[in-house]
Amino acid sequence: MVPGQLIDKHVMITAGPTYEPIDPVRFIGNRSSGKMGFALAQAARESGANVTLISGPVSLTTPTGVKRIDVETTEQMANAVDASLESCDIFISCAAVADYRPKLFEQEKIKKTEKQPLQIELQPTKDIVSAVTTSHNRPSFVVGFAAETQNLVEYAQSKLERKKLDMIAANWVGQKQGFAVDDNALHVIWNDGEQTLPLMPKTQLARELMTLIIKRFYAKNSI
Ligand code: PMT
Repeated sequence: MVPGQLIDKHVMITAGPTYEPIDPVRFIGNRSSGKMGFALAQAARESGANVTLISGPVSLTTPTGVKRIDVETTEQMANAVDASLESCDIFISCAAVADYRPKLFEQEKIKKTEKQPLQIELQPTKDIVSAVTTSHNRPSFVVGFAAETQNLVEYAQSKLERKKLDMIAANWVGQKQGFAVDDNALHVIWNDGEQTLPLMPKTQLARELMTLIIKRFYAKNSI
Protein backbone atom coordinates (compact mmCIF):
# COMPACT_ATOMS: atom_id res chain seq x y z
CA MET A 1 0.00 0.00 0.00
CA VAL A 2 1.44 3.39 -0.95
CA PRO A 3 0.76 6.14 1.65
CA GLY A 4 -1.22 9.09 0.29
CA GLN A 5 -3.02 7.24 -2.52
CA LEU A 6 -6.43 8.14 -1.11
CA ILE A 7 -5.81 11.78 -0.14
CA ASP A 8 -9.06 13.77 -0.63
CA LYS A 9 -11.09 10.56 -0.83
CA HIS A 10 -13.79 9.62 1.69
CA VAL A 11 -13.88 5.97 2.76
CA MET A 12 -16.80 4.74 4.87
CA ILE A 13 -16.51 1.40 6.67
CA THR A 14 -19.02 -0.52 8.79
CA ALA A 15 -17.67 -2.82 11.49
CA GLY A 16 -18.72 -5.09 14.33
CA PRO A 17 -22.10 -6.68 14.96
CA THR A 18 -25.55 -5.16 15.13
CA TYR A 19 -27.80 -6.01 18.06
CA GLU A 20 -31.54 -6.40 17.71
CA PRO A 21 -33.38 -5.97 21.02
CA ILE A 22 -35.93 -8.55 22.15
CA ASP A 23 -36.86 -6.86 25.44
CA PRO A 24 -35.07 -4.30 27.68
CA VAL A 25 -32.38 -6.85 28.69
CA ARG A 26 -31.99 -9.28 25.78
CA PHE A 27 -30.94 -9.03 22.16
CA ILE A 28 -30.07 -11.07 19.06
CA GLY A 29 -26.40 -10.59 18.15
CA ASN A 30 -23.39 -12.37 16.69
CA ARG A 31 -19.70 -13.02 17.39
CA SER A 32 -18.15 -10.13 15.44
CA SER A 33 -15.50 -8.26 17.47
CA GLY A 34 -14.99 -5.40 14.99
CA LYS A 35 -11.28 -6.26 14.57
CA MET A 36 -11.41 -6.69 10.78
CA GLY A 37 -13.37 -3.48 10.21
CA PHE A 38 -11.22 -1.42 12.58
CA ALA A 39 -8.05 -2.74 10.87
CA LEU A 40 -9.54 -1.64 7.53
CA ALA A 41 -10.28 1.81 8.95
CA GLN A 42 -6.66 2.11 10.05
CA ALA A 43 -5.36 0.91 6.66
CA ALA A 44 -7.62 3.37 4.81
CA ARG A 45 -6.39 6.19 7.07
CA GLU A 46 -2.76 5.18 6.40
CA SER A 47 -3.49 5.61 2.71
CA GLY A 48 -4.52 9.22 3.34
CA ALA A 49 -8.33 8.92 3.18
CA ASN A 50 -10.88 10.70 5.33
CA VAL A 51 -12.36 7.71 7.11
CA THR A 52 -15.81 7.32 8.68
CA LEU A 53 -16.13 4.16 10.76
CA ILE A 54 -19.66 3.14 11.68
CA SER A 55 -19.40 0.60 14.44
CA GLY A 56 -21.76 -1.73 16.22
CA PRO A 57 -21.14 -2.54 19.90
CA VAL A 58 -17.43 -3.49 20.27
CA SER A 59 -14.63 -2.88 22.78
CA LEU A 60 -11.92 -1.50 20.52
CA THR A 61 -9.96 1.75 20.41
CA THR A 62 -10.68 4.04 17.47
CA PRO A 63 -7.71 4.25 15.05
CA THR A 64 -6.04 7.68 15.14
CA GLY A 65 -7.58 10.22 12.76
CA VAL A 66 -10.71 8.14 12.08
CA LYS A 67 -14.22 9.55 12.62
CA ARG A 68 -16.22 6.95 14.53
CA ILE A 69 -20.00 6.75 14.84
CA ASP A 70 -21.36 4.19 17.32
CA VAL A 71 -24.64 2.43 16.65
CA GLU A 72 -26.44 -0.60 18.04
CA THR A 73 -29.22 -1.75 15.71
CA THR A 74 -29.27 -2.41 11.97
CA GLU A 75 -31.70 0.47 11.50
CA GLN A 76 -29.32 2.87 13.31
CA MET A 77 -26.40 1.60 11.18
CA ALA A 78 -28.43 2.05 7.98
CA ASN A 79 -29.36 5.62 8.98
CA ALA A 80 -25.75 6.50 9.89
CA VAL A 81 -24.52 5.14 6.53
CA ASP A 82 -27.18 7.04 4.64
CA ALA A 83 -26.31 10.31 6.40
CA SER A 84 -22.67 10.16 5.17
CA LEU A 85 -23.25 8.58 1.76
CA GLU A 86 -23.32 11.66 -0.43
CA SER A 87 -19.62 12.43 0.06
CA CYS A 88 -18.46 8.80 0.06
CA ASP A 89 -16.06 7.49 -2.62
CA ILE A 90 -15.47 3.97 -1.29
CA PHE A 91 -17.88 2.04 0.94
CA ILE A 92 -16.73 -1.13 2.71
CA SER A 93 -19.41 -3.23 4.39
CA CYS A 94 -17.47 -5.30 6.93
CA ALA A 95 -20.13 -5.29 9.66
CA ALA A 96 -21.83 -8.54 10.58
CA VAL A 97 -25.27 -7.06 10.24
CA ALA A 98 -28.16 -8.99 11.83
CA ASP A 99 -30.30 -10.48 9.07
CA TYR A 100 -33.41 -10.66 11.27
CA ARG A 101 -34.93 -8.72 14.13
CA PRO A 102 -37.81 -9.47 16.46
CA LYS A 103 -41.08 -8.30 14.92
CA LEU A 104 -42.17 -6.95 18.31
CA PHE A 105 -40.06 -5.34 21.02
CA GLU A 106 -41.39 -6.33 24.43
CA GLN A 107 -41.49 -3.24 26.69
CA GLU A 108 -40.99 -5.32 29.85
CA LYS A 109 -38.59 -8.20 30.50
CA ILE A 110 -40.12 -11.45 29.20
CA LYS A 111 -40.86 -13.71 32.16
CA LYS A 112 -39.57 -17.25 32.06
CA THR A 113 -42.20 -19.96 31.98
CA GLU A 114 -40.96 -23.41 33.02
CA LYS A 115 -42.83 -25.54 30.49
CA GLN A 116 -43.74 -23.39 27.50
CA PRO A 117 -41.20 -22.91 24.68
CA LEU A 118 -40.74 -19.21 23.89
CA GLN A 119 -41.57 -18.20 20.32
CA ILE A 120 -40.13 -14.99 18.92
CA GLU A 121 -41.29 -13.96 15.47
CA LEU A 122 -38.45 -12.52 13.38
CA GLN A 123 -38.59 -10.28 10.35
CA PRO A 124 -35.79 -9.47 7.88
CA THR A 125 -33.74 -6.31 8.49
CA LYS A 126 -32.87 -3.82 5.79
CA ASP A 127 -29.90 -4.92 3.64
CA ILE A 128 -27.58 -1.95 4.17
CA VAL A 129 -25.04 -2.65 1.43
CA SER A 130 -27.77 -3.31 -1.16
CA ALA A 131 -29.38 0.02 -0.20
CA VAL A 132 -25.99 1.67 -0.80
CA THR A 133 -25.47 0.13 -4.25
CA THR A 134 -28.98 1.09 -5.40
CA SER A 135 -28.88 4.61 -3.94
CA HIS A 136 -28.77 7.68 -6.18
CA ASN A 137 -25.73 8.56 -4.03
CA ARG A 138 -23.97 5.26 -4.85
CA PRO A 139 -20.25 5.60 -4.05
CA SER A 140 -18.06 4.81 -7.04
CA PHE A 141 -16.64 1.67 -5.37
CA VAL A 142 -18.57 -0.63 -3.02
CA VAL A 143 -16.99 -3.62 -1.27
CA GLY A 144 -18.96 -6.27 0.58
CA PHE A 145 -17.86 -9.19 2.73
CA ALA A 146 -19.21 -12.74 2.68
CA ALA A 147 -19.08 -14.78 5.88
CA GLU A 148 -19.68 -18.42 5.04
CA THR A 149 -19.57 -21.86 6.65
CA GLN A 150 -19.86 -23.70 3.31
CA ASN A 151 -19.46 -23.10 -0.47
CA LEU A 152 -17.32 -19.99 0.15
CA VAL A 153 -16.59 -18.94 -3.44
CA GLU A 154 -19.97 -19.90 -4.90
CA TYR A 155 -21.96 -18.01 -2.24
CA ALA A 156 -19.62 -15.01 -2.38
CA GLN A 157 -19.95 -14.81 -6.17
CA SER A 158 -23.71 -14.84 -5.89
CA LYS A 159 -23.63 -12.04 -3.23
CA LEU A 160 -21.30 -9.99 -5.47
CA GLU A 161 -23.92 -10.12 -8.23
CA ARG A 162 -27.12 -9.94 -6.15
CA LYS A 163 -25.91 -6.99 -4.06
CA LYS A 164 -24.43 -5.22 -7.14
CA LEU A 165 -20.97 -4.90 -5.52
CA ASP A 166 -17.68 -3.94 -7.18
CA MET A 167 -15.75 -6.42 -5.01
CA ILE A 168 -16.41 -9.02 -2.32
CA ALA A 169 -14.04 -10.35 0.35
CA ALA A 170 -15.07 -13.83 1.41
CA ASN A 171 -14.01 -15.51 4.63
CA TRP A 172 -14.75 -18.76 6.41
CA VAL A 173 -16.46 -18.23 9.75
CA GLY A 174 -17.16 -20.57 12.61
CA GLN A 175 -16.21 -21.18 16.21
CA LYS A 176 -12.50 -20.50 15.71
CA GLN A 177 -12.14 -18.61 12.45
CA GLY A 178 -13.20 -15.28 11.00
CA PHE A 179 -15.02 -13.87 14.01
CA ALA A 180 -13.13 -12.44 17.01
CA VAL A 181 -9.71 -14.03 16.26
CA ASP A 182 -6.61 -11.96 15.37
CA ASP A 183 -5.76 -13.69 12.07
CA ASN A 184 -7.89 -14.15 8.97
CA ALA A 185 -7.69 -15.16 5.30
CA LEU A 186 -9.77 -13.76 2.44
CA HIS A 187 -10.78 -14.84 -1.04
CA VAL A 188 -11.38 -11.58 -2.91
CA ILE A 189 -13.51 -11.52 -6.07
CA TRP A 190 -14.30 -8.65 -8.46
CA ASN A 191 -15.99 -8.58 -11.87
CA ASP A 192 -12.96 -9.76 -13.89
CA GLY A 193 -10.57 -11.22 -11.36
CA GLU A 194 -9.96 -12.86 -8.01
CA GLN A 195 -7.15 -13.28 -5.50
CA THR A 196 -6.57 -15.24 -2.33
CA LEU A 197 -5.00 -13.40 0.61
CA PRO A 198 -3.60 -16.12 2.91
CA LEU A 199 -3.91 -16.35 6.71
CA MET A 200 -2.19 -13.40 8.40
CA PRO A 201 -2.90 -10.85 11.17
CA LYS A 202 -6.03 -8.79 10.41
CA THR A 203 -3.96 -5.58 10.58
CA GLN A 204 -1.76 -6.81 7.72
CA LEU A 205 -4.65 -8.41 5.82
CA ALA A 206 -6.51 -5.09 5.91
CA ARG A 207 -3.52 -3.35 4.25
CA GLU A 208 -3.38 -6.02 1.53
CA LEU A 209 -7.13 -5.72 0.92
CA MET A 210 -6.89 -1.89 0.80
CA THR A 211 -4.12 -2.24 -1.83
CA LEU A 212 -6.48 -4.31 -4.00
CA ILE A 213 -9.39 -1.92 -3.41
CA ILE A 214 -7.32 1.15 -4.31
CA LYS A 215 -6.08 -0.55 -7.52
CA ARG A 216 -9.59 -1.54 -8.63
CA PHE A 217 -11.06 1.83 -7.55
CA TYR A 218 -8.64 3.76 -9.76
CA ALA A 219 -8.98 1.21 -12.61
CA LYS A 220 -12.77 1.72 -12.55
CA ASN A 221 -12.56 5.48 -12.34
CA SER A 222 -9.96 5.98 -15.08
CA ILE A 223 -12.35 4.64 -17.76
O1 PMT B 1 -15.35 -8.43 13.44
P1 PMT B 1 -14.38 -9.58 13.44
O2 PMT B 1 -14.48 -10.40 14.69
O3 PMT B 1 -12.97 -9.14 13.13
O4 PMT B 1 -14.82 -10.59 12.27
C1 PMT B 1 -14.74 -10.17 10.93
C2 PMT B 1 -15.95 -10.67 10.13
C3 PMT B 1 -15.93 -12.19 10.08
C4 PMT B 1 -17.25 -10.19 10.78
C5 PMT B 1 -15.82 -10.03 8.70
O5 PMT B 1 -14.63 -10.44 8.10
C6 PMT B 1 -17.01 -10.38 7.83
O6 PMT B 1 -17.10 -11.44 7.22
N1 PMT B 1 -18.00 -9.44 7.76
C7 PMT B 1 -19.30 -9.65 7.04
C8 PMT B 1 -20.23 -10.48 7.89
C9 PMT B 1 -21.56 -10.71 7.21
O7 PMT B 1 -22.57 -10.23 7.70
O8 PMT B 1 -21.52 -11.40 6.08
P2 PMT B 1 -22.83 -11.87 5.22
O9 PMT B 1 -22.29 -12.84 4.25
O10 PMT B 1 -23.93 -12.30 6.14
O11 PMT B 1 -23.31 -10.54 4.51
C10 PMT B 1 -22.91 -10.18 3.18
C11 PMT B 1 -22.70 -8.69 3.06
O12 PMT B 1 -23.95 -7.99 3.25
C12 PMT B 1 -21.74 -8.10 4.10
O13 PMT B 1 -20.97 -7.11 3.46
C13 PMT B 1 -22.67 -7.48 5.14
O14 PMT B 1 -22.06 -6.36 5.80
C14 PMT B 1 -23.84 -7.02 4.27
N2 PMT B 1 -25.16 -6.98 4.95
C15 PMT B 1 -25.74 -8.11 5.43
C16 PMT B 1 -27.01 -8.06 6.01
C17 PMT B 1 -27.68 -6.81 6.09
N3 PMT B 1 -28.88 -6.70 6.65
N4 PMT B 1 -27.09 -5.70 5.61
C18 PMT B 1 -25.84 -5.76 5.04
O15 PMT B 1 -25.31 -4.73 4.61
